[in-house]
Amino acid sequence: MRIYDIIKKKRDGEELTTEEINYFVKNYTEGKIPDYQISALLMAIYFNKMNKRETIDLTRAMVNSGDIVDLSGIKGIKVDKHSTGGVGDTVTLILGPMIAACDVPFVKMSGRGLGHTGGTLDKLESINGFRVELTNEEFLRYTNNIKISICSQTANITPADKKLYSLRDVTATVENLSLIASSIMSKKLAIGSDAIILDVKVGNGAFMKNIDDAIHLAKEMVAIGTGYGRETIAIVSNMDEPLGKAIGNSLEIKEAIKTLKGNGPEDLFQLTLQLGTKLLLLVKKVEKEEEAKKLLEEIIDSGAAYNKFKELVKWQGGDVNQIENPELLPKAKYIIEVKSEKEGYIKSLNAEEIGKCALKLGAGRETMDSTIDLSAGIILNKKVDDRVMVGETLAQIHTNDISKGKDVEEDLKGLFEIGEKNKKSKKLIYGLVTKDRVEIY
Ligand code: URA
Ligand code: CA
Repeated sequence: MRIYDIIKKKRDGEELTTEEINYFVKNYTEGKIPDYQISALLMAIYFNKMNKRETIDLTRAMVNSGDIVDLSGIKGIKVDKHSTGGVGDTVTLILGPMIAACDVPFVKMSGRGLGHTGGTLDKLESINGFRVELTNEEFLRYTNNIKISICSQTANITPADKKLYSLRDVTATVENLSLIASSIMSKKLAIGSDAIILDVKVGNGAFMKNIDDAIHLAKEMVAIGTGYGRETIAIVSNMDEPLGKAIGNSLEIKEAIKTLKGNGPEDLFQLTLQLGTKLLLLVKKVEKEEEAKKLLEEIIDSGAAYNKFKELVKWQGGDVNQIENPELLPKAKYIIEVKSEKEGYIKSLNAEEIGKCALKLGAGRETMDSTIDLSAGIILNKKVDDRVMVGETLAQIHTNDISKGKDVEEDLKGLFEIGEKNKKSKKLIYGLVTKDRVEIY
């Protein structure tokens, strides 16, 4: 077999065999095929696409390129959650403790932030002492004891995806449905959870810019998971504007604490509640949707979810005092209030551009080696469809660098599009994809 022939075949729009897919994944991972040939192949895949069978084969080849994390030592039906990436997406930090407080084991191997999207591990590291690097023995023991752990991937999981994703990132070949679906699902399937819930984001801050594409991606991922014998469902949700109000690491920890105490932003709480509801039904913890919702609302009202978060922080070495007194979390030196110069309704709030503002402030990483400022970020006081008066605060910029802060103030003023009320009010959740059906809301 020759890589040249595989590239040519895909260039000409033909279907690749299982053997051909295994061949290029294995040999590229082992460094036996150069980047320039795989770049050409990725571009051919980008233009000519892969069918379902090819996508499943690619996923399997990537899963098999590394270690599989065995979770069979954890009692119960283990659940995992994944978002396709967003801005200010604080959901995992709230959903995890809620699910665990319902006695369902939640095992999450998270990533770090890159570019305009944030990462759960960085957020957790704004808590003093919080250890995200756990050994297999530790996360199995923690989850058996308190039903939750959130850690980094220690094992050598899907090395093929790591190489391919980095190459896609610099060759403009990220936005292909099969490549995204196989990349995300290979990482999920390499970790042996029983049930997976996917939050597929759609909008200007997401990979998928329109609902049809997002539904298509969700269907593809659900089919891959189901084919692997995992209960898999997907929610398709709005990422036209950031989720919640806080964007930035310690700011999002504070937002998570508030939400776990029942005082968080409505969109963030409602999305988390929906995901949690579907998850409890998926693992058959309850039978009816209303029961699931009621149970989740109860564990918020009783403080059980908040206490579970504190337990997670304590077990992973973090300072619980900072959770009980959030003012002790990292704080920026300066807060700049961005004031509105117009009266009207917020028409749009481009999530990707706001993510880039947070990145500029140091809340995110330009490259995997950049250091981040845990206290930097943005609080949105107004969101899409809100009414605003002249002089009212649109947002707060939290920064340790006043000149960067001033820069971002100018950017943010331009990002709040203010005018007539939108004809259609915004939607938080567009639909649900299960193995048997697609529900559009
Ligand atoms: N996230 C991933 O892990 N892979 C993709 O291809 C896109 C988003
Ligand atoms: Ca948020």
